[in-house]
Amino acid sequence: MDTSPNVPRWTPNPTRDENNNSTHDHFPFGDSTAVPPPLHQRSISSMSRGSMESVAITMPSGDAYKTQDSMRKDRGILLTWEDLCVSAESGKGNNVPILSGLNGFARPGEVLAIMGPSGCGKSTLLDTLAGRLGSGVSQTGDILLNGRRQKLAFGTSAYVTQDDVLMTTLTVREVVYYSAQLQLPDSMSLADKRKRAEDTIDEMGLTGAANTRIGGWAHKGISGGQKRRVSICMEILIRPELLFLDEPTSGLDSAASYHVMSRIAKLARREGMTVVAAIHQPSSEVFELFHGLCLLAYGKTVYFGAAKDTSEFFASNGFPCPPLRNPSDHFLRTINNDFDKEENAEARTTNAAQAIQHLVNSYKSSSHAQKVLQEIAEIRQVEGAAVSKGGQASFLTQSLVLTRRSFVNMYRDLGYYWLRLAIYIALCICDGTIFHNIGHSYGSIQARGSMLMFVASFLTFMAIGGFPSFVEDMKVFERERLNGHYGVGSFVISNSISAIPYLALISVIPGAIAYYLTGLQRSVDHFVYFALLLFMCMMLVEGLMMIVASIVPDFLMGIITGAGLQGVMMLSGGFFRLPNDLPKPVWRYPMYYISFHKYTFQGFYKNEFLGLTFPNNQVGGSPTITGEEICREIWEVEMHNKWIDFAILFGMVVLYRLLFFMIVKTTEKVKPMIKGWKFKAPKESTHDSNSGSSP
Ligand SMILES: Nc1ncnc2c1ncn2[C@@H]1O[C@H](COP(=O)(O)OP(=O)(O)O)[C@@H](O)[C@H]1O
Ligand SMILES: [Mg+2]
Repeated sequence: MDTSPNVPRWTPNPTRDENNNSTHDHFPFGDSTAVPPPLHQRSISSMSRGSMESVAITMPSGDAYKTQDSMRKDRGILLTWEDLCVSAESGKGNNVPILSGLNGFARPGEVLAIMGPSGCGKSTLLDTLAGRLGSGVSQTGDILLNGRRQKLAFGTSAYVTQDDVLMTTLTVREVVYYSAQLQLPDSMSLADKRKRAEDTIDEMGLTGAANTRIGGWAHKGISGGQKRRVSICMEILIRPELLFLDEPTSGLDSAASYHVMSRIAKLARREGMTVVAAIHQPSSEVFELFHGLCLLAYGKTVYFGAAKDTSEFFASNGFPCPPLRNPSDHFLRTINNDFDKEENAEARTTNAAQAIQHLVNSYKSSSHAQKVLQEIAEIRQVEGAAVSKGGQASFLTQSLVLTRRSFVNMYRDLGYYWLRLAIYIALCICDGTIFHNIGHSYGSIQARGSMLMFVASFLTFMAIGGFPSFVEDMKVFERERLNGHYGVGSFVISNSISAIPYLALISVIPGAIAYYLTGLQRSVDHFVYFALLLFMCMMLVEGLMMIVASIVPDFLMGIITGAGLQGVMMLSGGFFRLPNDLPKPVWRYPMYYISFHKYTFQGFYKNEFLGLTFPNNQVGGSPTITGEEICREIWEVEMHNKWIDFAILFGMVVLYRLLFFMIVKTTEKVKPMIKGWKFKAPKESTHDSNSGSSP
């Protein structure tokens, strides 16, 4: 192809057969010119802990590796799968197959492309290989890493999913840099981490957009294709040994697709990465970058082998690629039967369903299928290295970086706290003016109670307003957690710490407006207690909403659930129905004690009424009534120290966050167990669904 000086960056590879004179009998992929195969010499002493002997293991197809000294020799994962079947549960108890009997392998330094019409099972295959299948799907067959059954750990594999979940308020550079700090080990200097981030941004062609915010529904930021590349950036930062990419080039134009894929291929070769990518519609230049091709149609293998041999395979089965047509277009068109009816009208001789059947059968008996089985058998015999856990930032570093990132996000996201602050100020002005100069009459007792109740329940209730933003946070957390970037502990701690300044702000400023406009007890320590209790209450509701977010997946459902829960707690808090009148079962025991409003009401009452005296309007009573009597007899408050109420609320704040931590942890552990219990697979599969680390 012409490499015009006007378009210096567009330099597709020369035709692949130019210098192809290596002969590897049992190595179907390795002789592509685009990315030469890897060096695979290892010392066994670094793999098996017991043996001190240093034995060199040469992986099959070794001779081509000798010249590749640019590739990292200390790593590399051979991924194989054998007789892999995945089926989905249909409503009536029978299983619908999604993938049936797939065999294949992916090698270090190479890119294996998974192609096929949409809905053929590409994402499912990637999920299965990455150990991420969801519930409702069962899996049988063997997936081996270096010929062994072992678990994927952090630093070993990374997965760029089909949808991009990114923190919308950060710029591209910030996203990648924070991610570098979170993932790269502490032994690396900050300058090196920054350099790695910059290099990666550059590799993905994002330098021009580095200072643009990601953007979301609220305001437009970078384009969809750029988001795709940011997602890839975050996962290739640590140079994982195994990289899964689900449609990495969706949303990219053909030049950008080519550059992104060629850089990934180059990185794979340099770092010895094994790349498995589901690709939708590769251009012929992109197609030339692939070493292996796994062509699927309706969950069955149409072809698995060297990408460059695909045309020959199709031609030998009666489907030659017409001249001037992109070969990948030709393959996909041949095996897509979604539109058979329309196509048949246009006088096509064979319909796609027949073509698929023919190709599937002919592949099964072809030498390609034999080669794959032979290769898998050889890899099994070698039993290569155990996959080691990559170095990772410490718990402390992760918590600090996450706190900072979360703080910046909360600052920039207007919906997180700023809008709430504005509404709170407005509400507290209303509250303060309605109860303005409340005075010390007998009637002011009831008015004080109502005013305090409004603050304790309605202001905290509004914490729901920040829920959508928190759900966005959770999505980012879930994605990063699945990839093992950090643990649940760091997330809970960072989220709690970064929220403190904002919650303090929204309890002190609106609190002061309501407090002083109403004319409650004037001394500073009374106001300090009032603001502290309000702050604790807000922390608590945030914790409650975190729990809701971890259980309910959708933010609308979450808001409704959260509002409902708070409504029940408010009702049983002892204001609307006095504590002694609450029906004993359920409402008094245990709801009254679970409801955090109880402690807030009682703390507020004691803070306000103790030390005050009011005229008594009741007939036959003493002329005055003390604050203590009001608390005990009118509000039926438990008369322990007000700081005990505060301490209980504090304990609840901690408890709620612990609960959130435990729920997330338990879900991670229980999900695979439930799956295993629901589907008693004949053969146990290799991976755990949690590929992340759990510090
Ligand atoms: N959990 C599931 N339950 C039922 N069907 C599923 C499930 N996951 C995937 N499928 C079905 O399996 C097929 C393959 O899906 P997918 O792997 O996402 O295809 P694609 O090749 O487009 O990535 C689709 O027809 C999809 O409807
Ligand atoms: Mg898909």
